[in-house]
Amino acid sequence: MTTLNDFRLRLGADEYLPIMVGGMGVDISTADLALAACRLGGIGHLSDAMTPWVSDRKFKTHFTKTKSGRYKFNRDNIDKTKIKFNLDELYKATAKVVSAAVERKTGDGGLFINVMEKLTMGAAADTLGTRLKAALDEGIDGITLSAGLHNGTLKLIKDHPRFRDVKIGIIVSSVRALKIFIRSGKKLDRLPDYAIVEGPLAGGHLGFGEDWADYDLKKIVPEVLDYMRNEKLDIAVIPAGGIFTGTDGVEYIEMGCSAVQVATRFTVTEECGLPPQVKQQYFAASEEDIVVNSLSATGYLMRMLKNSPAIGANIKPQCEPLGYTLSSKGTCLYVDAYYATGNDKDGKKLPVKDKICICYHFSQHNVWTCGQNTYRLKDTTNKLPDGSYQMLTVEHVFNDYLYSENHEIKLPELPAAEAVQA
Ligand SMILES: Cc1cc2nc3c(=O)[nH]c(=O)nc-3n(C[C@H](O)[C@H](O)[C@H](O)COP(=O)(O)O)c2cc1C
Repeated sequence: MTTLNDFRLRLGADEYLPIMVGGMGVDISTADLALAACRLGGIGHLSDAMTPWVSDRKFKTHFTKTKSGRYKFNRDNIDKTKIKFNLDELYKATAKVVSAAVERKTGDGGLFINVMEKLTMGAAADTLGTRLKAALDEGIDGITLSAGLHNGTLKLIKDHPRFRDVKIGIIVSSVRALKIFIRSGKKLDRLPDYAIVEGPLAGGHLGFGEDWADYDLKKIVPEVLDYMRNEKLDIAVIPAGGIFTGTDGVEYIEMGCSAVQVATRFTVTEECGLPPQVKQQYFAASEEDIVVNSLSATGYLMRMLKNSPAIGANIKPQCEPLGYTLSSKGTCLYVDAYYATGNDKDGKKLPVKDKICICYHFSQHNVWTCGQNTYRLKDTTNKLPDGSYQMLTVEHVFNDYLYSENHEIKLPELPAAEAVQA
């Protein structure tokens, strides 16, 4: 029987196992998670979301404190136009996060970074260019462009010495979006090496509107494959969103895809950056607990667990220390929603209903974004006598994808103590 292990993903001169673990910010797809996928011969992703914050937490740098101090005077000001990231500091933070991972890289796989256009940081093009340059300088193997059309992104790095050798891909949800990107690539004679086609069941932000449920990855992928064939484009097509078993993956590869991108099943691994108690929430979730809403300050729809602590919170906007979703004009949908929310009779701020401060709440792991199949995670592990679910490892989940037949999912070996009781 055919398994994912019967296929290889070829990008330029390099060959990988056909499993990409998608980028999950903020530091949900940690370096440990990405490096494990890479060691096993697949592709792992770092995320470029909030690298100054991630660097501070991991490497005891002080980027956030420094920025906060610089803009302390503005804390109570509704006008956030003055707040900018210092590009030198942003460069250093991204370089630190990337280089620390690149130094630890082992195996034949690829260490890529997911770079989001919607992370506008008060100066969209400048901050995007800075993050990309830092990742390239530090030796990242590949860049996956996400959360946006990236019409002008390639131009930002066209003079970088690694522009033609680094792997470049884009996440799209339609042929239309892909065409826009290809057009910008053609102008620079630099086409992407791969296109990730993300359907409506994915985690994180969705590339669809309110009618997301009307779309089906199984219908979008053939459209993209046809387009590639008709245009004679040699670009690997990689589907994502709801691919839960290795057999799901084989079905896409037999259609003409080159690999799969997966994420949800890795949210409950030891290497994933979510706190252990949050991973238990993911395991325990039922289908009714998973919602798609418009609470993200980016304006994109996002899928999350409906008991995410961020929902209905009312934290004061954190643009001075954080400010990752500020537009180039200094606006943020959460700032608007916060100041449009009144106080109760004791003068206390009411819950902010329309938006979430995703900077603050992602930094605290309070937005439990997840894929639609999160409710199936409980079927991928053992329930322990204390009622909790057994944590998995990247190696276990990766190999389960690689060798799964007939949609079967292999449960992990019970920990020694539980095995004796059983
Ligand atoms: C917890 C979580 C966080 C995510 N964060 C991001 C992100 O920051 N940027 C992005 O482009 N995609 C993000 N995604 C999407 C994944 O990279 C991936 O493409 C998708 O979830 C694959 O579908 P699956 O989760 O059903 O396997 C996230 C997914 C999850 C589950």
